[in-house]
Amino acid sequence: MSSKLIAPSILAADFANLQRDVEMVNRSDADWIHIDIMDGVFVPNISFGMPVLKAIAKHAEKPLDVHLMIVDPDRYMKTFAELGSDVLTVHYEACTHLHRTLQAIKAEGMKTGVALNPHTNINVLEDTINDIDLVCLMSVNPGFGGQSFIENTYAKVSQLKTLITRKGAKTLIEIDGGVTNANAKKLIYTGADVLVAGSFVFKSKDPKATITDLKHIANT
Ligand code: DX5
Ligand code: ZN
Repeated sequence: MSSKLIAPSILAADFANLQRDVEMVNRSDADWIHIDIMDGVFVPNISFGMPVLKAIAKHAEKPLDVHLMIVDPDRYMKTFAELGSDVLTVHYEACTHLHRTLQAIKAEGMKTGVALNPHTNINVLEDTINDIDLVCLMSVNPGFGGQSFIENTYAKVSQLKTLITRKGAKTLIEIDGGVTNANAKKLIYTGADVLVAGSFVFKSKDPKATITDLKHIANT
């Protein structure tokens, strides 16, 4: 079985000490750095944009897992590629022409990600799953860190796993929102491959040790 991945979400970092927090992630057992871009339109919050991503990328030594919570993401594909995004995740609900968007992400040399809101059924990916490297299942409503995990996510992980297997796809399943050491094991057991964790990591006493714990839970 391939290794399960941990992606700390920088949204919960100390923005006045971003370099310090990115360097902590570099030294930790984390696999990726998860970066949430919010536009205040697709979600009711604004996080940060390109200059901050650029500053993070300058110090990051791990793959950048960029989660776009923005409308009409096609406008910025090239920019996000140039800023060093390794995985670029767009929201299914924000893309009128998802197939075209996925080809554009690939053409820029990035891995394709599609995020689904908690209310969006897995079956909408039936015809695109073979073009998707990662599906990000939102286990909270996007827009804010620190929310409670929605229990229905487990059922969605199983349905998605079934779809991936049936289609012979190699898509990774990522879980985003409310991930803690209390639900990590069950999520992995149900079929998740990548766990995003924001508050649980950065609000803990020892974020680096918390990442190690999550990595251990996910891989034993
Ligand atoms: C929510 C973001 C998440 C968020 C997760 O809209 O997409 O990545 O940072 O934060 P926690 O782990 O605190 O729920
Ligand atoms: Zn996210």
